[in-house]
Amino acid sequence: MDSKIEKFPRGTLRQGGMAVGISTYLLAKLVAMLGGHGTTSSPLADLVLALTLQQGDPSGDCRRALKHFPYPAIAEMVIDAFYIPLGNPEGLSVRAVPMFSLDPSRLSIALIICANFAFVWLAKEGHQHEICTNFMVKVGEGGPLPYALMGAVLGGVGSVTVGAGIPFGIPDMLMDIVMGREVRYSVPIYNGEPYEIRFDPKSFFGKKLPSDLRIPNFVPIVSSRLALDVLMKRVPKSSINGIVVERNVAAGHNAPPRTPSVDSSGVRCRVYGERDEPDLERIADLGIPFWVGGGYASERGIEDALSAGGTGIQVGTAFALADESGMNPEVRKNALAIISKGEEQVSTRHDYSPTFFPFKIFRMKGTSSEPDVHNARVRVCDKGALRYPYMRSDGTIGYRCPAEPVEHYV
Ligand SMILES: Cc1cc2nc3c(=O)[nH]c(=O)nc-3n(C[C@H](O)[C@H](O)[C@H](O)COP(=O)(O)O)c2cc1C
Repeated sequence: MDSKIEKFPRGTLRQGGMAVGISTYLLAKLVAMLGGHGTTSSPLADLVLALTLQQGDPSGDCRRALKHFPYPAIAEMVIDAFYIPLGNPEGLSVRAVPMFSLDPSRLSIALIICANFAFVWLAKEGHQHEICTNFMVKVGEGGPLPYALMGAVLGGVGSVTVGAGIPFGIPDMLMDIVMGREVRYSVPIYNGEPYEIRFDPKSFFGKKLPSDLRIPNFVPIVSSRLALDVLMKRVPKSSINGIVVERNVAAGHNAPPRTPSVDSSGVRCRVYGERDEPDLERIADLGIPFWVGGGYASERGIEDALSAGGTGIQVGTAFALADESGMNPEVRKNALAIISKGEEQVSTRHDYSPTFFPFKIFRMKGTSSEPDVHNARVRVCDKGALRYPYMRSDGTIGYRCPAEPVEHYV
């Protein structure tokens, strides 16, 4: 990690949440201890916890965290279902991780809550600084959010960042969780009426919630003027504690471009341009603290953000390549070698991610960043994170996944 980070005043640097499993609790903890906002990642945290337990939880961290879960029977249910001791002396078979549905099983809910609790708890262990968790509205069309927020709040999360969609309903859910009330979230159904998820923590846990729960700061992530306008219309300003402004050069997924143009064959298209640049002056006028991300990971970046009236910067790529990131070590090593030779090629592809959103590609030999490898890949939906519910002609709810084979999807 760049030691210059230690020079930044406390709070000026946010480490971006990076799914799946890139922004680990170790990374978040270290960043928090160095004075930044260390961030764990919520999307598919349930899968990460289940797989860690199935691999014997070699560090013992996850089981240690779950010992502190306030409802031991729920934590035991998760451990009994997924933990396989190292070497598997009892010959236990691997249990499938449930895909999220609108009618989740008790085990599925328990796994989501425990995973979000455990990763926040571990990131907070051994110091007094705040930890943030990053959520994505788009994953499961937001269906897992009531349970994921519940787990993070039980773990003592200090703030929540929310991106990949406009985060309506989050401040209300956080308030309901802390007050011990039923939590409701409306999930859009393609071709049908929205479905209201209702989660009553008291009846799920069989006990009242701890009385010392704290409402975390709510920090939405916005990447366009349009998204900011919609957010400010629908969410009271008083419930927004900060804003992360993500420019379209940020790694990961980006908001689609909105500036009209014409491509080389004369076809009308949209490209990134003026319309896609966030209006920092306007954001500064709101009087809400903000951090700017996307190519700002430098001292110059932090100076620019501060002089635009911001509180600081959000950084992803540099942290994804740090020792504490959860990235496959081989891939990370190769990426660093390419960067150290100055040979990196990063492009925005609009046709690569099954989410339909533009996606940053770092070119690396033999990986699906190469079109041949990408095109030869067998399409599959085996995690369920991108599934979205739709209304079938008989009135029942089905699920479609844009990552599954085209003929199944159609
Ligand atoms: C590997 C990787 C995964 C990411 N995943 C997410 C994510 O799941 N959710 C999210 O809101 N942002 C995600 N991001 C974006 C970062 O949180 C951050 O905002 C962005 O990387 C900042 O720009 P920078 O990479 O130029 O520093 C990801 C970034 C990287 C590098």
